[in-house]
Amino acid sequence: MREHTIAAIPADGIGPEVIDAGTRVLASLEKRMGDVRFHVETFDWGSDYYRKHGVMMPADGLETLRKFDAIYFGAVGAPDVPDHITLWGLRLPICQGFDQYANVRPTKILPGITPPLRNCGPGDLDWVIVRENSEGEYSGHGGRAHKGLPEEVGTEVAIFTRVGVTRIMRYAFTLAQSRPRKLLTVVTKSNAQRHGMVMWDEIAAEVAEEFPDVSWDKMLVDAMTVRMTLKPQSLDTIVATNLHADILSDLAGALAGSLGVAPTANIDPQRRFPSMFEPIHGSAFDITGKGIANPVATFWTAAQMLDHLGEQDASARLMRAVERVTGNGILTPDVGGTATTKEVTDAVIDAIHSSN
Ligand code: NAI
Ligand code: MG
Repeated sequence: MREHTIAAIPADGIGPEVIDAGTRVLASLEKRMGDVRFHVETFDWGSDYYRKHGVMMPADGLETLRKFDAIYFGAVGAPDVPDHITLWGLRLPICQGFDQYANVRPTKILPGITPPLRNCGPGDLDWVIVRENSEGEYSGHGGRAHKGLPEEVGTEVAIFTRVGVTRIMRYAFTLAQSRPRKLLTVVTKSNAQRHGMVMWDEIAAEVAEEFPDVSWDKMLVDAMTVRMTLKPQSLDTIVATNLHADILSDLAGALAGSLGVAPTANIDPQRRFPSMFEPIHGSAFDITGKGIANPVATFWTAAQMLDHLGEQDASARLMRAVERVTGNGILTPDVGGTATTKEVTDAVIDAIHSSN
């Protein structure tokens, strides 16, 4: 029996609804496979915890998580707690504390889902966005001076290091090499930002020499939004900075049909720490408690987690089940259906059990 320990952090809004669905699906995979066990422990950290204790997670939170093989995360964000507190209190300390420097965001159009672009069918959009996840614009550098006074100043400093850029480039080129098209697009803004972004371009060219079988090109981030929208077929693997990829991957999720289907993996490729798997979307206050949150992103990220844990069979089985369910039109309202979270989850569990 292979065993994996998973720390579940459902956190806020629809987070608990989708992580509950995901945990049920993991349990059904366990039953179906028979030779693997997932020990899921759930932590009540997040905005409720903050209202009680003044912090989003306990001071020794990272120490606690460190012992797990993977982290399965819902979403943070509450209407009455400032977003920078929720984000910097829980999700970012985990990403940064565990040096999860590669944020991997696959996007494709699942069967049964009608994408918003007129001439874009299922085969036309099949991307993986690799987001630098440890530095750049979200390094947390900067400050405020003369707070509240007319002469107040705020700075937000982007940090790009040779080590940080080189390792994310190698990760992206390696991933591109593993995909059939062996095609990588490197995104920057090196016309207007002439220091860190120019270094990013130079390092891309250096690392490219190690991967002669990968074709690659460069795009400025503004032009990239146009290419994603008008020529989605021309893209495959994409690498960009923390901020740029954050924005581009929301666009990618929307072009694939909904944020509710888009997954993301925060990976420590060296496996010194647990990696973290989550849907891209946030806590979605507008639909919290209505039972209609789309659980597909949370299932897809579970498939990424299973891959990372070496459970490729379980991962492929889960994705086949998800695609069968979406293909059969069992969809939540965000992707044009009328099904509830529970109905989609039950259907995926059925498909896991009934397929070979
Ligand atoms: P959001 O992703 O929560 O919601 C955007 C829109 O997409 C909403 O209309 C929502 O109903 C819909 N949506 C999102 N996920 C869905 C799902 N699974 N099924 C169906 N519809 C879905 O982004 P928003 O509204 O900008 O932010 C809400 C809160 O979430 C904020 O506090 C924000 O800071 C936080 N947030 C947290 C993230 C995280 O934990 N990784 C990521 C993004 C936002
Ligand atoms: Mg985002």
